[in-house]
Amino acid sequence: MTAEPLERSLDHRDQLTQLTPHPDEPLVLRTARESDLPELRRLDEEVFQEVAYPGFLLRQLFDMYEQNFLVLDDGTGRLRGYVLAATRALGADSWILGLCVTQDRRRHGLGRELMTEVLDRLRRDGIRVVRLTVEPANLAAIFLYRDLGFRPEEPDGGLRPDYFGPGMHRQIMRLDLDH
Ligand SMILES: CC(C)(COP(=O)(O)OP(=O)(O)OC[C@H]1O[C@@H](n2cnc3c(N)ncnc32)[C@H](O)[C@@H]1OP(=O)(O)O)[C@@H](O)C(=O)NCCC(=O)NCCS
Repeated sequence: MTAEPLERSLDHRDQLTQLTPHPDEPLVLRTARESDLPELRRLDEEVFQEVAYPGFLLRQLFDMYEQNFLVLDDGTGRLRGYVLAATRALGADSWILGLCVTQDRRRHGLGRELMTEVLDRLRRDGIRVVRLTVEPANLAAIFLYRDLGFRPEEPDGGLRPDYFGPGMHRQIMRLDLDH
């Protein structure tokens, strides 16, 4: 359930379906557009700071995975969150490559909304396994992922020391999608 005003765009033509009417600042969950890229970069840097994606990589991720790149648009030119899932050309698995909600909007169900929508899209596309990496101390994200059914991928409880380089440990989590 969402405690915030939220609109969704569920189809590829970006027609908006209002879920919760709100006069002030309704958020729209929609597919990212090319014109979002500067704001996406700003948002990514605001949230992830030194581990934000370089601009050129964000651009290429958009080019590759546009349909599974979803944003929360507040209607004022600002994005308040995004999720990005990458799929393989061959195979039925996917990786979540990014998820965030701006600090001022957390704990209102938006992270869950982003994940639920992208998982629905992946399921519709025939994806069977979704993986992600999470910093082992990031309990907010781990609780969210566990709630959605993700579990550590063995061995070692999913822990992968130095996964992103020295000292950058990660846990790998996995979800098998029902079909
Ligand atoms: C992780 C993140 C996306 C969660 O977004 P959010 O909109 O605040 O999450 P939601 O409100 O949808 O919370 C869903 C569930 O996640 C868990 N959760 C989220 N934040 C939590 C927190 N601070 N403490 C404990 N549990 C938390 C809870 O189980 C919650 O369910 P509940 O509200 O019914 O208790 C957000 O905290 C964020 O952007 N963090 C910084 C970026 C990041 O770490 N991204 C993930 C990288 S792997």
